[in-house]
Amino acid sequence: MRVIRIREFGGPEVMRVEETPVPQPGPGEVLIAAEAISVGFAQTQMRRNIFPAPMWRPEFPIVLGGDVIGRVAGVGAGVTGFREGDRVGAFTLHGAYADYVVVDAATVLPVPEGLDAAQATALPSPGPIGTGTLGTANLRPGESVLVHAASGGIGHLSVQWAKAHGAGPVIATASSAEKLDFARALGADVVVDYSREGWADEVREATGGAGVDIILDSIGGDVLRQGVGLLAPFGRLVFYGSAGGGLEIPRISPMELIEMKFITGFALSRWRAARPKEYLANHEELAAGLADGTIRHAVHATYPLEEVGRAHEEIESRAHIGRIVLLP
Ligand SMILES: NC(=O)c1ccc[n+]([C@@H]2O[C@H](COP(=O)([O-])OP(=O)(O)OC[C@H]3O[C@@H](n4cnc5c(N)ncnc54)[C@H](OP(=O)(O)O)[C@@H]3O)[C@@H](O)[C@H]2O)c1
Repeated sequence: MRVIRIREFGGPEVMRVEETPVPQPGPGEVLIAAEAISVGFAQTQMRRNIFPAPMWRPEFPIVLGGDVIGRVAGVGAGVTGFREGDRVGAFTLHGAYADYVVVDAATVLPVPEGLDAAQATALPSPGPIGTGTLGTANLRPGESVLVHAASGGIGHLSVQWAKAHGAGPVIATASSAEKLDFARALGADVVVDYSREGWADEVREATGGAGVDIILDSIGGDVLRQGVGLLAPFGRLVFYGSAGGGLEIPRISPMELIEMKFITGFALSRWRAARPKEYLANHEELAAGLADGTIRHAVHATYPLEEVGRAHEEIESRAHIGRIVLLP
């Protein structure tokens, strides 16, 4: 089978196709024959070795992770609930850029038969990150929600989930007019170009000066710093990525929080383990929404597995809207 391996950190060119035997699933593992594999921003940081999350501990040769959709091709000892041929999906931190992918059985989800494989890559991680961050913020009807990077693979799903679950005004940020139009078409009530000076003032004006109840922040750095200032009393900021901030996570003084502001982080693996019922309930709702078209998963482009470098280049140049998917 083909696998995309990294033997040194660097630009997209360090990802090279190699041939290797199909792996066998170990105890508690499932082998998936991949139909579609999604490429996310986090993997571009991993490739450059600037991914800040503590749960990623790479060893060369590295095979990057992602969302994989396919059919069960084998199950390891002790695995129940899945059989060869079942259509499934999973998000894994390692080993996804390959024809066959071994994943932890605990992370495997059923995928409806009729759902297009590229569409279904919303199910393992992008959709649940949208639902889980809003669940972590305990979204209540009528509350305002600020979604940063709202045209991205996760952000555009978060906008739709917030609107469908009773949010008041949803304010979407992005870095171009095309991306902002896209976010508006998905239901955002207010759109703001956060690459321009004064974006935070525009957000505050959109709330009539009251501030924002919930902020979903995948950018970090100065955007996070300004977000703290934008929170309304009892407002919650959920930090889940550092696309704009690299490794520089800003220091927040406890005195900034004294006006009843809450900041938390979100990691899919931790949320999935801590709230399995919520995770599975959200999965069923997401799968039904994708199947009946009430949730739109925008697929920017599909490429063959060996063109993964092109996908990384597009993501790093911020050229994409929605998700880029590899079709082995
Ligand atoms: N916590 C978790 O469990 C978890 C798991 C997976 C991913 N993540 C994080 O979720 C975030 C979104 O992931 P995704 O895969 O859906 O990515 P994505 O949204 O498809 O791409 C990244 C987005 O970030 C924005 N951006 C801002 N500064 C950027 C920069 N310097 N370079 C590139 N993009 C920049 C871009 O939108 P604009 O051009 O509009 O700014 C782009 O839409 C990432 O931060 C990722 O690390 C978190």
